[in-house]
Order: sequence, then C-alpha cells, then structure tokens
Amino acid sequence: MDSLEQLVLLAKQDFKDAPDAVALENAKARYLGKTGLITEQMKTLGKMAPELRKAQGAVINNAKGQIEGSLNARREELANEKMQVRLNAEAIDVTLPGRGRGKGGIHPVMRTWERIERIFGSIGFDVADGPEIETDWTNFTALNSPENHPARSMQDTFYIEGNDTEGKPLLLRTHTSPMQVRYARSHELPVKVIAPGRTYRVDSDATHSPMFHQVEGLWIDKNISFADLKGVYLNFVRAFFETDNLQVRFRPSYFPFTEPSAEIDIAFGSGPLKGRWLEVSGSGQVHPNVLRNMGIDPNEYIGFAFGSGLERLTMLRYGINDLRLFYEGDLRFLKQFN
Ligand code: DAH
Repeated sequence: MDSLEQLVLLAKQDFKDAPDAVALENAKARYLGKTGLITEQMKTLGKMAPELRKAQGAVINNAKGQIEGSLNARREELANEKMQVRLNAEAIDVTLPGRGRGKGGIHPVMRTWERIERIFGSIGFDVADGPEIETDWTNFTALNSPENHPARSMQDTFYIEGNDTEGKPLLLRTHTSPMQVRYARSHELPVKVIAPGRTYRVDSDATHSPMFHQVEGLWIDKNISFADLKGVYLNFVRAFFETDNLQVRFRPSYFPFTEPSAEIDIAFGSGPLKGRWLEVSGSGQVHPNVLRNMGIDPNEYIGFAFGSGLERLTMLRYGINDLRLFYEGDLRFLKQFN
C-alpha cells in the first residue's frame, strides 16, 4: 500500500474516532489544513517533472477527495447524533391522553330563569332585578305583614347584623315579593314586570332549600281582572313546558299581600312523581294596603301578582323528584341538562 492510500485510511480512522465536532475539525486540520499531510503532498508537486506532476496530482486529488468525503460523512453523523440526543431529551409522549378541558354548562335552574325572561319578555313584561338583602319593611310590613303577624313565621329567614334606617334588622329576602313594592314605587303606571332572583329561608327538604329562586310577576293597570292573571299564567306555563296538555289548578289560599289569593299547582307529566301535584306559585289580587304602600290609589288601579319557584318549575319540566339535587354539584346529574 503506498503512503497516500495509507493516509486516506488513517484520516478515515481519525475522523471516525473523533467524538465530537471540535475533535473532528482538529483531525481535519491534520490532513487538509495549511500544514496538513495532504497539503504537504500537494506542495511536492511543484518540484516534479510535468508528466509526473499530472499523474501524481490526480492521485493526490483523488486521496483528498476521499478524505473530504469521509470528513463530510462524519460531520453529518455527528450532527445527527447530537440531534438524536436532543430529541431524546425533549421527547414528548404523543400517545399520552390530553388533560382535556372540562366544558361548562348552564345550570338547569338558570336555564329556567332565562326561559322565563324570554317568555314574559315576549308578552311585554319588563325584567327587574333587586337586592337579596332586604329591609324588614319591604320584605314584610309593606306587604301587609305587620310585626307579630302570624304569617311572618311561615317565612323564617336569616337576619343580617346591622339595622336599616328605621332601626329594624336587615334580612335575606324570603321571597321576591318585595320587588313588587320597590318596582311599583319607582315606575310609572301601568306596571307589567317580572323579577327573578335568589331567595332564602330556613328550610331544607326534598322540595325546599335554604337558598332557592323565585320569579315575581306584577301587573297593575286599570281594567284588568283575575281572568287576565289566569290567562297570562296559563300562557306562560304552556310556553314553558312546550305543551298545552298540562294539568294546572288554581287553589284558593291565603297570603297577607293578596286578596283573593290562590296557589297554583301543576301535576308532574313524567318522572317518578308522574301525576302528583306540585305547588309552583302563589298568586292573587294585590291587597289594597299593598297598593297604598306602593303609593297607588286602590280605587283607581287594580293589581295582580304571582311568585313562582324556579326549582319547582324545573323539577316539573324534567321530572326531577328532589330539589336538593340542584345544589349537590353532582356532575352525573348536571351533565344530563347540557
Ligand atoms: N311570596 C309568596 C311566597 O313566597 C308567593 C306569592 C304569593 C307571591 C302570592 C305573589 C302572590 O306575588 O301574589 O310564598
């Protein structure tokens, strides 16, 4: 083997042994650098006779070409190794299941709330919002339930520390009915409004929760009658339940703020309680004392009102037998509505 062939083999081995790019470039310098072994060979050409130079030149160039070829191959190999190390270090297991993002949904009672606003809005009712912390006067007294009136004990509630301007305790409203007074006192007549919202009572069983929702309805005008209240309410429940095939009854009852008064019951059309009546609303003709407390002359105007439970309407709509399900946050229950 002549020395050039050997040089090529040596270079190849050197490149192969180079563990990284820096070592490889140093090895390259030993062969192809200014004073490298191949370069030295080139320099000898000048002293040769022309024929010999031509032949030897070709041989050296060939050796140089082989060395460069193996240098480039090793460069690529090292670059690939480096990339592989990096890929391994930054590996992502694309087969792992994603963390996902829980999709929220609207709570069934809120869906009822929205539907009620839409239905009453479509027949010209305003929608009003009011405070959950009420005064004793607005929640009870103005609604014809004077202090010590036995009807007050039907609505035991949560009292707030601190008093109103009359020195009376503040409380969490037990119903949305105080909104009748607030709204009528601050709006021009005639009045046609609903006021949905949260209400509170010391109560908890399958049809009661300490926090629940009601929607108040109030209609004050000059020539309306109980028949109008009935018509509006029946129209509402038919739209709400999306059927005319409903069992609805108005049952005579008592409320301090209405006279006459009626409770409205609807029968379950489906679910485990199918056929059973559920009270969904109180209603009645607004008591003259209440109209006076609104600053309205009861000889000139007449009012009709109702206050319905949103949870109960929702129970009837979906055939749910226990109101507490709405507040347990059990996704198995809640997912069924989305
Ligand atoms: N506020 C009453 C309650 O929560 C329900 C009620 C009865 C509201 C008669 C009314 C009404 O507007 O006219 O038990």
